[in-house]
Amino acid sequence: MKTVALGRTGIQVPVLAMGAASLGSIYHPVSQQQANDTVTTALEHGVNYFDVAPYYGLTKAETALGGALKGVPRASYTLATKVGRYGDSQWDFSREATLRSIDESLARLGTDYIDVIQCHDIEYGDLHQLVEEALPMLRELQQSGLVRHVGITGYDLALLEKLAVEQKVDTVMAYCTWTLQDRRLGDVARRLNQAGIGVLNASPLSMGLLTRGGAPTWHPAHEDVQNACRAVSALCDREGVNISQVALQFALTTAAEQGIATTVIGTASKENMLDNIHWCEQPLDAALLQKIDELIAPVLNIGWDVLPGNGGKAQK
Ligand SMILES: NC(=O)c1ccc[n+]([C@@H]2O[C@H](COP(=O)([O-])OP(=O)(O)OC[C@H]3O[C@@H](n4cnc5c(N)ncnc54)[C@H](OP(=O)(O)O)[C@@H]3O)[C@@H](O)[C@H]2O)c1
Repeated sequence: MKTVALGRTGIQVPVLAMGAASLGSIYHPVSQQQANDTVTTALEHGVNYFDVAPYYGLTKAETALGGALKGVPRASYTLATKVGRYGDSQWDFSREATLRSIDESLARLGTDYIDVIQCHDIEYGDLHQLVEEALPMLRELQQSGLVRHVGITGYDLALLEKLAVEQKVDTVMAYCTWTLQDRRLGDVARRLNQAGIGVLNASPLSMGLLTRGGAPTWHPAHEDVQNACRAVSALCDREGVNISQVALQFALTTAAEQGIATTVIGTASKENMLDNIHWCEQPLDAALLQKIDELIAPVLNIGWDVLPGNGGKAQK
């Protein structure tokens, strides 16, 4: 797997990274054996950057990832987790909660340091507390070596960019905003990258929207967006291609020019992980992409901040 620099962190990140939210059974029930198989397959192919959070499956994802990484030499993979979000509507960026969260994450992940610690879904939390308490606490922990780099994650690109530059964070993870259907991260990512901040594009399948099975019931995309994506999936099927292949290849082949270091995809399936890895090596079908672009045009860049659906994250 090709690797690139993650901003100025010194981390060489594979262009495809694994998001472990799915190990928390947020899409479908996942056993420890499935978690082990998926993580082992990823590692065998150089996908050695793992992103997780206490919130995913309410700690289940961290526990499953920790179990799957047991016995794997610590220096052979990069571990990113988060602080600040602990439930669907539960944020706490206080010093105490930040410290406690990291202690608990370290125990669940079976490690004594975290490579990239990120403040989770910042737009929903108390930004004053984030700046005055969580970030200074994380910088202190960075001095002690418990965490190595500090980042932020979220959906609101303007806020991510503003805070990242003001607070001089090391990484920014945005999600569902550099995909076949939403391409708003590009401009922001290029500027962040130029400022030396490592940019991670999470959810290239837009949290299941760009899969044959379609979005989960909790997905916040509007019905019009979901219908357009279903039409794209049907088109891909007629052309004998899985929509997820085109969606992942779109994100991967355009990442470098946008200043995106890595694409963080989630799966709890060894078979899907293998497909994702193989798709990295195959070219994007430009003629098919053109047809998709025509179908997607009416809903391009229509995120749930623009046109909310009925899913959870649309409501603050
Ligand atoms: N605010 C944040 O910080 C934030 C928000 C969102 C995401 N993230 C990060 O980004 C990661 C990825 O996001 P995500 O998992 O939510 O969304 P995603 O990667 O866009 O999509 C995951 C969905 O796609 C399916 N899938 C994966 N590979 C597939 C394939 N080859 N064929 C068919 N289906 C496939 C998965 O099902 P299977 O398990 O069945 O393969 C799952 O249902 C997360 O794990 C997390 O680390 C961060």
